[in-house]
Amino acid sequence: MRIFIDSANVQHIREISATGIVSGVTTNPSLIAKEGRNFRQVVQEITEIVDGPISAEVISLDAAGMISEAEELAKIHPNVVIKIPMTQEGLAAVYRLNDKGIRTNVTLVFSTNQALLAARAGAAYVSPFVGRLDDIGHDGTAIIGEIAAVFDIHALETEIIAASIRHPLHVTQAALAGAHIATIPYKVIQQMTKHPLTDAGIERFLADWETVKNK
Ligand code: E4P
Repeated sequence: MRIFIDSANVQHIREISATGIVSGVTTNPSLIAKEGRNFRQVVQEITEIVDGPISAEVISLDAAGMISEAEELAKIHPNVVIKIPMTQEGLAAVYRLNDKGIRTNVTLVFSTNQALLAARAGAAYVSPFVGRLDDIGHDGTAIIGEIAAVFDIHALETEIIAASIRHPLHVTQAALAGAHIATIPYKVIQQMTKHPLTDAGIERFLADWETVKNK
């Protein structure tokens, strides 16, 4: 499973990218709003940091509007992938954009059937929202497993991005369930890095080294 960072904060993206673990980036209007900066500028800067798919979301609700926004966003950089909401209009936009060679990531996916439709419309990626499903008492990770099984049985090439990741366990569960990618917030990547036994181990090694370093 590949790792994307789910962020519009260029400092965070730059910092985590330095570790070599980041294969792509996802943004959404809420993440952009959190930064309070110009959308196109932020996307442009991200493309200069990460050489991989960078998802930028449209805000139109009709297919024609989504397509025209997508065409503008796609001009920013060849790595820009257009995030399209999972609606009938969205599917029509995905279908037309696929014909034009513009890759899409269908977002706000909450069921296996929605993912199947997105794949059939020609989406390069689907983004099932694990955390938001858990929030309403569903099993978000189970949906990932179901989508992975359906895509596998029917040889669908659309990749699954496990989204709305809230904690490290979601990442492990998404990997085991067959997600191709998890898009992970900065804070959760930091949590994944840490283990108290690693910290204790480093402390012990350094303390022991102190006792012999001058011998
Ligand atoms: C990424 O593609 C999604 O927009 C994001 O993971 C949503 O996460 P949230 O449910 O924490 O807002």
